[in-house]
Amino acid sequence: MRNLLSLLVSLMLLGGAAGHLAAQTATPVISYNTQFHPTLARRGMVVSQDKHASEAGLEILRMGGNAIDAAVATGFALAVTHPQAGNLGGGGFMLIYLKSEDRVIALDYREMAPRAASRDMFLNAGGDVDNRRARFSMQSSGVPGTVMGLTDAQAKYGALPLSAVMAPAVRLADEGFIMNWALSASLSRYRERLGADPVSLKQYFKADGSPYQQGELFQQPDLAKTLTEIAAKGAAGFYQGWVADRIVETMKSSDGLIRHEDLLNYVAKERDAISGTFRDYSVVAMPPPSSGGVHVVQMLNVLEGWDLKSLGHNSASYIHRLTESMKYAYADRSKYLGDPDFFKVPITALTDKGYAGTIRGKIKLDAATPSTDIAPAPELPDESKDTTHFSTMDAAGNMVSNTYTLNFSYGNGRTVAGAGFLLNNEMDDFSAKPGTPNGFGLIGGVANAIEPGKRPLSSMTPVLLFKDGQPVMATGSPGGSTIITAVLQTVLNVMEFDMNAATATARPRIHHQWFPDRLILEPGHSVDTRLLLAAMGHSVSAVASYNEGERVLGATMTIIRRPDGLIAGSADPRRPGAYAAAY
Ligand code: DON
Repeated sequence: MRNLLSLLVSLMLLGGAAGHLAAQTATPVISYNTQFHPTLARRGMVVSQDKHASEAGLEILRMGGNAIDAAVATGFALAVTHPQAGNLGGGGFMLIYLKSEDRVIALDYREMAPRAASRDMFLNAGGDVDNRRARFSMQSSGVPGTVMGLTDAQAKYGALPLSAVMAPAVRLADEGFIMNWALSASLSRYRERLGADPVSLKQYFKADGSPYQQGELFQQPDLAKTLTEIAAKGAAGFYQGWVADRIVETMKSSDGLIRHEDLLNYVAKERDAISGTFRDYSVVAMPPPSSGGVHVVQMLNVLEGWDLKSLGHNSASYIHRLTESMKYAYADRSKYLGDPDFFKVPITALTDKGYAGTIRGKIKLDAATPSTDIAPAPELPDESKDTTHFSTMDAAGNMVSNTYTLNFSYGNGRTVAGAGFLLNNEMDDFSAKPGTPNGFGLIGGVANAIEPGKRPLSSMTPVLLFKDGQPVMATGSPGGSTIITAVLQTVLNVMEFDMNAATATARPRIHHQWFPDRLILEPGHSVDTRLLLAAMGHSVSAVASYNEGERVLGATMTIIRRPDGLIAGSADPRRPGAYAAAY
């Protein structure tokens, strides 16, 4: 059987694309654009994981707000309606395209390690990582960045007052909203983790401790007070004053490390975006401490050297090339990526087309290279579990691509008493011990070791695409370590396979992250493809639970501006509740 398969593989793959192409001559033109339809609009759009939040952004667009105002409104609203990942107590990344200045801003509002953090803080007496402390204790929280990020973006690039932009979020918390199925089911699933904290239990469950059912009113008065304070005072309403007092009290009530000084010292940073090209597209993405931008560009550079379109979308030969590119990128990630304020990340070398050519040269077209045979580049040339994404676009052509998170769903599960928001467990994104995998199976070393004031390495990958100098697409995804590969495939679907937003979103995805040496296929890939890949030596598995039981790879929120001027968007159908609001 295996020999037969090998023969088949040899026939189809050893001869390069030729054999495959010959087999396809009966259907030379493949148009993907009538398969699924995106939401279409003339003026503006907001795509997020939750309908209330998308509509909050749309309300702001209709009032005359720009894409940045809409993004900030959506970000604050998600903190109310999508507490799995929408947050005040976490952090993230925002890419902003300002049409009038033809400029991209890469805003880093990732959490920072508190001053009292130290390299070995999560090791137990035996020198092993104590996963409970790294993931579910107060110590797992980094200093939150979301409120600084959203208010900075609003103050510098928004058009409306902060209080107006935050009004929908305040209203959703204060008046409440009707619980939808997605949140009700999620809260039931996390009843045990959230119920372990009396404050979270009170905030997210009924007085008798039972979960709210779909159709019931859900109000969050403490959160409404916090949002009102921020709406009135900006970031000072969170990093100083009574909200800051509540955060520090909550930290002290357990073993938490965050103090007033940490909150006062928190800064969101504008960084130079990562830029790359793929054929006639420009790709603009988030720089470190996100690893996503560097590696999406690195993998696109490798893949650009092959005519992928002729191989056929999701053919075994296409998936093989994707997979091998992913292994090299994640190997380099483990060694070279970290917070650029603490570690010199070789961005130019990693995103260099020549280096990509070297990787391409090592990739065998007919066989998988075992991950144990792949190591991070020994030298580079010198050079000078829930997260959520939303995208916005306005009539003027401004766009925002924002991914933010608490890390796992509901972060560390602990709510700040009296202030009504959950705390992150982002400290687990550091490499607590070289070579020991974190909650997403990712390994790292010194580049991503814990240091006070440092930001943990992230996989969050907001991306913007441009063509002929014009803004054409904003996208991004949750999914921990699978974020980078989900985003890669979504942009390839558009740039290489000419798919529309909906089709590019819906098509089945794959994932490989070097270690574990496992090629994950989403449902929807054919058995033939699976067998061909297995025969090439890939250890193929169905979707694993990187994301705490989710059976999917990512959940992209995409907006595309079409050549005819229409705005086309797609909320990923992989998770319930996502919605494209448009007008
Ligand atoms: O920043 C990161 O890479 C992770 N904290 C993201 C976590 C995540 O995406 C969870 N699941 N969807």
